[in-house]
Amino acid sequence: MSLRINSVAPNFTADTTQGKIDFHAWIGDSWVILFSHPKDFTPVCTTELGAFAKAKGEFDKRNAKIIGLSVDSVESHNSWKNDIEETQGQALNYPLIGDPDKKVADLYDMIHPNANDTLTVRSVFIIGPDKKVKLTLTYPASTGRNIQEVLRVLDSLQLTAEHQVATPVNWQDGQDVIIVPAISDEDAKAKFPKGWKALKPYLRVTPQPNK
Ligand code: BEZ
Repeated sequence: MSLRINSVAPNFTADTTQGKIDFHAWIGDSWVILFSHPKDFTPVCTTELGAFAKAKGEFDKRNAKIIGLSVDSVESHNSWKNDIEETQGQALNYPLIGDPDKKVADLYDMIHPNANDTLTVRSVFIIGPDKKVKLTLTYPASTGRNIQEVLRVLDSLQLTAEHQVATPVNWQDGQDVIIVPAISDEDAKAKFPKGWKALKPYLRVTPQPNK
């Protein structure tokens, strides 16, 4: 069965380009972006892995670790790393899981047989420090991901984990947010001292509380 929001992210041990890991121990107290790519030595994947590496500083700022995976071996990943650095101008700076026996890919339902019988699709799992799945994204092999969107949703997940707010369409860190409908106006007065604008009784907009 596919993993749903707030499911516990299944634990596993695996070989990576940075050594063997126990996934839950590796997560520690961090947030994690676990993402799969279809295959080493392919064009779109080369651009994506370079872009994740360039953005690593942004993930670090958010206490988030990144880790990639495909059904290729660690040896294959290690050979491909040179091409990523050469063509994308950035060395890989995060681990890649080698999963030739598809153990992790199956655990996380990353192979979608109607797309391809053997290769992983472009899955993204954002996992919280509580080891629960907070968000999933799935892209086909033909469409590269948007790293800014991964950072944007991570900002929203981290904000909404701490404050009783939700983030509106196209929200970016620093913009106004929405007070969740479960909070009464009475309680909102204490929780949101900057006040709010009620466009409707259920649509109350307030400045981002942690800014
Ligand atoms: C790519 O990364 O370009 C790719 C990988 C697998 C299938 C199609 C495209």
